[in-house]
Amino acid sequence: MRRSLAAITSELQRLKAEGIRTVSISDESVALLRRALAKSIPPAVTTPPAPSADARLTAAPVKPTPAQDVPAAAPKVASNLPPAPVVKLPDGDKAARWSALRELVLADATCRANVRSGSQVVFGVGNLDARIMFIGDAPGAEEEEQGEPFVGPAGQLLTKMIAGMGLARSDVYIGNLMNWRPQMPGAAGGVQYGNRPPTAAEMAYCQPYLTAQIEVVAPELIVALGKTAAEGLLGPGTFRTLGEVRGQWHTFAGRPLMVTYHPSYVLRTPTNQNKRLIWEDLLKVMEKTGLAISDRQRGYFLGK
Ligand code: URA
Repeated sequence: MRRSLAAITSELQRLKAEGIRTVSISDESVALLRRALAKSIPPAVTTPPAPSADARLTAAPVKPTPAQDVPAAAPKVASNLPPAPVVKLPDGDKAARWSALRELVLADATCRANVRSGSQVVFGVGNLDARIMFIGDAPGAEEEEQGEPFVGPAGQLLTKMIAGMGLARSDVYIGNLMNWRPQMPGAAGGVQYGNRPPTAAEMAYCQPYLTAQIEVVAPELIVALGKTAAEGLLGPGTFRTLGEVRGQWHTFAGRPLMVTYHPSYVLRTPTNQNKRLIWEDLLKVMEKTGLAISDRQRGYFLGK
C-alpha cells in the first residue's frame, strides 16, 4: 500500500508542478487513500468522508506519511550545495570530449553525495551526432538504478514518440537537467518511494553539465519535456503554466528550444487531446529539422 500511496502522492505533486489544479481520481485510488487516511489519523479524529468516484481533487490534498513526504518547500539539500562546477572540456573529438565529461560527472562528489547507496549518477545517452536532443528534469527510480535517462515508463513512451517521428532512440540524444534523482527527506539510506521535482538550486548545480553536453553534441535543436525542464532551461518564474510556453520556439544555449509536455503527463492523463498536443509539438520539431512528414504522421491525431 505504501508504494501505491507514494505513487499517487508523487503523481499529484507532479501534476501540481505542471500547473494542474484538479484531477480525476479512480475508485481504486480513492479506496487506497481512505485506507491510508484511516491508518494515519489517530482514532480520536474523525476520518473525513471519502470523495465520490468522480470527485475532483485539488492537486495537493493528500497528507503524505512522513517517510514518503513530499516537501512543500525546497529541502535542505538545496542550500547545502557548493557553487556550480565550472566545466572545461578537453580538446579532442566528440567521443573523447563526451567520455571525459561523463567521467567528470560520474566522479562529481556532489552528485555522488546525493545518490543513495546502490544507485547511480545519471548522465545523458545517445547519438553524439544527434540533430535533436530531448531534455527531461531528473532521473526516477529506474533511471538511477540503471544509470541511464528515460528508461522507466515515461522513457518507454518517449521512445515510442521518437519512433512516431520515424527515428530510433539511437538517432537522438537524451539527457536530464539533473544528474541525480532528487531525494525525499528520510530516504537517504533506504528505498525512496515517489519522486519530487528538483529545486532551482539543484538544477543550477547540474546545469553546467547539461550545457557542456549540448556543446559537445551540438544538436540542431532541443526539446524540453515538461514544466520543470522548461523552467530549468527558460529560467524560474518565466511562465506560470506550461500551456503558456509549449508548442513555441524558444532559445537555449544559442539553439532553438521546443517546449512540450512530459511523457509522464501523457501517461497520467492519456487523453487524445494531450496526445495530440504533444504530437503537434513534435511535428514542429520534425518540420524544423527537415524530417519527412508523411500524410499519416501529419494527420495522426486529427479528428481524434
Ligand atoms: N523523467 C525525467 O524527466 N527524466 C528521466 O530520466 C526519467 C523520467
